[in-house]
Formats: sequence, C-alpha cells, structure tokens
Amino acid sequence: MAANSATSQQKVIVVDFGAQYGQLIARRVRDLHVYSEIVPCDITAAEVTEAAPAAIILSGGPASVYAEDAPAIDPGILELGIPVLGFCYGQQAMAVALGGEVGHTEKGEYGPASLTRCDGGGAGGAGDDADGASGAASALFGDTPAQQTVWMSHRDAVSRVPEGFVVTSRTDVCPVASMECAERRLYATQFHPEVRHTPHGQKMLANFLFDICGLVPDWTMDSIIEDSVAAIRQTVSDNRVILGLSGGVDSSVVAALCARAIGKQLVCVFVNHGLLRKNEPEEVEEVFTKQFDVDFVHVHAEERYAQLLAGVVEPEEKRRIIGTQFWKEFFAVAEELDGVKFLAQGTIYPDIIESGARKTGGKASTIKSHHNLIPFPEGVHFDLIEPLDHFFKDEVRALGTALGLPDYIVHRQPFPGPGLAIRIIGDVTPEKLEILKNADAIVREELDAYNERLFVESGVRNGEHVRDVAGGPEVERAVWQYFAVLPDIKSVGVMGDERTYARPIILRAVESSDAMTADWAKLPYDVLARVSSRIVAEVPGVNRVVYDITSKPPATIEWE
Ligand code: XMP
Repeated sequence: MAANSATSQQKVIVVDFGAQYGQLIARRVRDLHVYSEIVPCDITAAEVTEAAPAAIILSGGPASVYAEDAPAIDPGILELGIPVLGFCYGQQAMAVALGGEVGHTEKGEYGPASLTRCDGGGAGGAGDDADGASGAASALFGDTPAQQTVWMSHRDAVSRVPEGFVVTSRTDVCPVASMECAERRLYATQFHPEVRHTPHGQKMLANFLFDICGLVPDWTMDSIIEDSVAAIRQTVSDNRVILGLSGGVDSSVVAALCARAIGKQLVCVFVNHGLLRKNEPEEVEEVFTKQFDVDFVHVHAEERYAQLLAGVVEPEEKRRIIGTQFWKEFFAVAEELDGVKFLAQGTIYPDIIESGARKTGGKASTIKSHHNLIPFPEGVHFDLIEPLDHFFKDEVRALGTALGLPDYIVHRQPFPGPGLAIRIIGDVTPEKLEILKNADAIVREELDAYNERLFVESGVRNGEHVRDVAGGPEVERAVWQYFAVLPDIKSVGVMGDERTYARPIILRAVESSDAMTADWAKLPYDVLARVSSRIVAEVPGVNRVVYDITSKPPATIEWE
C-alpha cells in the first residue's frame, strides 16, 4: 500500500469531461462516505478494468457531442457490467456510444426546470408512462417526488434513447430528462444532480450508490485515518521522514498524520523567516512541541532574511530571494540528519488535478510531475510521501480536526509563502514589519469576530447567510481572506493638537471560494469603523486606514 493514497475497498470513478464538473461530483460522492477519484475522459475500458471501480459516473462538460474533437467515452466501458451513471454531457455521451441520438433542443434550458417523472413512481402524484417508459419505478429516483425542480444547463439533448433504454423523466423543453436501462445498471440524467439547486440530487446519488450499486458508506474519518496511518507506516518502515512545516493547514495536517503514524521518526523543520503574522511562530512551536510528539527543529533565520531583503523593493525579486533561501535553510538542516529517507509534502488533490499531473477533462498529457519543483541540492535525494494527495481542502481540514489540531490552524486563511514581505510595499524594514504585524493582528481579531458572529447566527461557515434587517433581507457572506497591507507612503493627519506625518494601512478583505476570482467584501460600516479606529489608536506610526474596494480581476488579492 502506498502512503500517497486514501485507499478504500470500494471506489467510484468520475470520468471527467470538463474539470470543474468532475471535482464537484467527486465531492458529492465523498460526502456520502464513498471514496471517489477523478479520471480523464479518454480512459479505456482496459484501464477501467484495472482500476476496478465499483461504479462509474460520467460528468457533464462544455462540449457538444457533435463538435469535431468532442470527447467520447470508450463504448467498451459500458459493456463491463459496472454500473454507470451519466450527468448532462455524460448522458449524451452514453446515448451516442450505445446507438442513441442527440439533437439540439429548440431554446436550450438554463437554470431551474420543472421535471416530471414518467417512470410511474414518486410521491405527490403518479407520473405517466408516456414516451415509451416502462411504468416500473426508477430506482434512481426512488421515493423523490413525481414533480420536482432540477438544475439544467444544456442546448443539446438526447432525442432518441438507445435500444433497451426507457425514458424516466422529462421537462417541457427536454423530452429525455433522464433515461435508464435498469437491467444493465446504466442510468443517466440531462440535469445536474450534483448541484445544490437540484434539491433531490443528493438523494438520487445515494440511491445510485447504495440501492443500485450496493455500496456501503464506510469511507469515514476513522477509516481514512486508519488507512493513511497504516500506509505511512508501511512505506516509511523504520526510516526517518523530514517535513517543511510552514504552520499552514496542509503541512500541519501532514505533520499531525505522520506524528500519529511514526511519532519521533518525523522531523519537522520550521524555517522562521521573520515574515509570519504576529504570534504565529510561537503558536506553531507550541502545537508541535507540546501537543504532538515529533522531532521539531525551529530554524531562526530572521536575521539572514532581513539582510538578504534589505533595500529590495521589486516584488518578484523579494519572492525569489525568500523562496531560494527557504530551500537553503531547509536542506542545511536535512543534510545534517542521519537516516532520513523521505520528504513529506502537503500536496492536496486539487494541486494534482490542476498541475496536470493527472490531467482530466481532455486528452491525458504526458505526466509532468509537480515533484520536480523541489530544488534538491546536488547529490541530495529524498523519496516523497504525500499523504494528502487524494484529499480536497475541506477533507484536509476535517482530518486536521479529527487528529486534534486546534481550530486556529485548521481554519487558517491562505497565507503566501513570502509572508508579510509582499504585503509591505517597497523595502522591508524592522520598523515596517512591526507596524504591519500589529495592524494585521487587529484586522484579524475584528474580522474573525465578525465571521464568527455570522457563523453563530447562520450555522454556515464560509457560506451565504440571509439576515433580516429593517430594509428587508440582506445577504451576508463570511469573509474569506483578510489582512493589512502597508504601502510605501506617508500622509498628514492630526492627533490631539499635533500634526502627524505617518503611514496609512490598507485593509484588504475579500470573498472567494478558490482565490481564482474574488470580490471585495461588503463589510458593514460598524465593522470598518472599529477596525479603523482601533488601528489608528493602537498602532504607533499609523494615522490613516483605507479600504481596498477592488475585485479580482482586475486586481489580485495580494498587493505584490
Ligand atoms: P493573488 O494575489 O494572486 O493570490 O490574487 C491568490 C491567493 O494565493 C495566495 N498567494 C500565495 N500563496 N504562495 C502561496 O502559498 C505565494 O507566493 C502566494 N501569493 C499569493 C494569496 O494569499 C491568495 O489567497
């Protein structure tokens, strides 16, 4: 068993016809405690046989099945006797592969649609059995209502089902909203059961996995930890493992997992570049010396970084210096240690998918591993272990919690490797660092409290929450990332009777789900007012606070 996988006896593969669709489906399957993995859509029947999944799901995708280079499914996959469920493009690909037909609907269908079951099942009124339906209730729909809302997003649709298939539902626009051949356990829907806007979608997925495929929901946090710990132990044996611990979520969870598996055989190297947020180095040291029994090396590199960064103003130059020095510091420790065979990394599943290491949604490219990014010095080599490489971010957080990591690490915001150096515009000096750390601590304190208040009121972390205010309902959203930035200017102010000439602080607070795009957070005025007055009152050297009201694009989240 390799240490790099979240193994489970039963696995569902999601054949991905377009990356974002596959990820969402895999997430939904995992929410039901069944392990799932994303595979590229050019996977062959032989490769599927080798992977031995218990079920297959075909994702949606942006292409038209009649486009010149439209991705198709190897028809042999549908002959393996493994149950298959197709969504949207997946339904069309299945239909075409089995001799059915796909055509354009007149106007397409985008958004919520009213669906009528025609399989003779469902609560709230019997469906008819028009369109050649069998009249037998569909196991996929189970006891979901005869009439229900589903989410549609398509122009093409199946116009003739393959031989042996029956139509199980329709909408006004789409005559084949779903189809199936129960005998061969082949099912498909034109709508998207994986999105929240299909209220009974998750139930249908559960019906497929448990009633149709007979799977058992045994992929639980306990079994995940047990499997991962066993895999790490088996791979590592009695060797030592080194890990670059940043204090971020991913490296901390790897450390906690390895601590459970191999204890003191793990050496955590924490390179302190002096550019972390206030109290962070102390927090990391506390957790990994008091709570977890690992070998913890705190490298005090603050002075060396300060010297290297002195007078450097160009953002890319700062990043390059900080990144290069990290590996120098890290390998200086590594080379002194005996018996270290492995380097553990906090690579997570989206890194793998997005790096193209296992490309999905198109023709699989030559595997170009992200592993090569580690600049091993000459003559130095470690084998990599990546115990999180099959987990999504929120699964990593759940693992962290289950392993006993404190909330302030598990729910830590993204923080750039170059740290506060890229939030100080211009050169980095001890005086500026001190100002920024103190201002940032206030921003975090106030906005942590704001987020917590939303969470307590709504029970939803990081989601949308509707609050009734005098003018009607108002949507509030938890803030995703927030911090202070120190620009390289001064401005005039007045404090008491004194004229001041001091620095401004820029408040940056954004809503996002993946950092690819972001919206500036529409914070309530009272929150903004408190952040501003506290920073000016409590941080010497600051006489003004401004709020960055730019989204990404056109800006980026960070300032450098
Ligand atoms: P930008 O500024 O590009 O940032 O909109 C997007 C997200 O990435 C984080 N970020 C980094 N994370 N190393 C990291 O690990 C970096 O060098 C880095 N630069 C930006 C940023 O905080 C935001 O969440």
